[in-house]
Amino acid sequence: MSLKSISIPRPDDWHLHLRDDSILAAVLPNTARIFGRAIVMPNLRPAVCTARAAVAYRSRIEALIPEGSNFTPLMTAYLTDATDPLELRAGWNDGIFSAAKLYPAGATTNAEDGITDILQLDNVFEMLQELSMPLLIHGETMNQQVDIFDREAVFIEDTLLPLRQRYPAMRIIFEHITTNEAVAFVEAADENVAATITPHHLMLNRNDIFKDGLRPHYYCLPVAKREHHRRSLRVAATSGNPKFFLGTDSAPHLTTDKESDCGCAGVYNAATAMSCYTQVFDEEQSLDKLAGFASHHGPDFYHLPRNTETITLTRAGTLEQPPDIDINGGKIRQFLPETPVHWHLIHEQPQ
Ligand code: NCD
Ligand code: ZN
Repeated sequence: MSLKSISIPRPDDWHLHLRDDSILAAVLPNTARIFGRAIVMPNLRPAVCTARAAVAYRSRIEALIPEGSNFTPLMTAYLTDATDPLELRAGWNDGIFSAAKLYPAGATTNAEDGITDILQLDNVFEMLQELSMPLLIHGETMNQQVDIFDREAVFIEDTLLPLRQRYPAMRIIFEHITTNEAVAFVEAADENVAATITPHHLMLNRNDIFKDGLRPHYYCLPVAKREHHRRSLRVAATSGNPKFFLGTDSAPHLTTDKESDCGCAGVYNAATAMSCYTQVFDEEQSLDKLAGFASHHGPDFYHLPRNTETITLTRAGTLEQPPDIDINGGKIRQFLPETPVHWHLIHEQPQ
């Protein structure tokens, strides 16, 4: 018998790009009306590297939270080759930083100031390990000789496994995983390692990026992989294993920046993510595991309380493509796969 509606504790988004200024103002309400909290990525220009910058960014976000929403932004520190571990400690102890973010230099949007040699960051890793402060990792090798579809798997061998050996007590979240190798790595690791999974990596494989022509709005990093990898991600997400939890990697870019000679990586999915995740769990006959993935495993890993409010989704007709978001004449395309999505967010508890 198939369910017609499902209520789960209000989910949190453990990997989110909100940007700044007019894009922040336009996209924040979509997240704030659905999710209780979000781990906010620090890849602004300039990047959010200090506690002071994080406080200022948090204030800009808080000023735009819609009335009636209890949304809480959780801030992250952007690691560079010059990060001072004492800055991390102060930001963590003051409750400003919830995690530190490691981008290999050049890995993705605004990652120019990221880490050039991960094995040279010992003072930072020692501090993170001592504080039990989570390290969020964009896990792709920056060796341009490596095929783009192999960069996550190579990163595990080259970097993650040695890092784990040297800092076994460091708490790591392997972000937006895309491969069977990443699933296997996380499953084999102890309780200090977890991973986030995006809706689009559960719904798209690499063929979808090229179906009937080039689909710039399905292009993100790490890029979607072969079908068998997508299958592994779906099994992991719906398994009930607390090491896997929700992180949308919602990453807005103007359509003009995506539909160009050198299009930006990033999928904007904040408004459609919960419908998409629920659709995937329904297809996998695992709706009973949705609350764990979306609402329990994340706060448990971060040692934060679970949300007590609920949201409800109902199964109905096919979700239609939501309109582009308008930004001073520019537009942001919202993610929806070509395969039908039947789950609609219908109800939010009064707050
Ligand atoms: C993200 C962005 O645009 O900031 N893009 C993406 O494709 N996911 C950066 C990131 O998380 O890699
Ligand atoms: Zn991201």
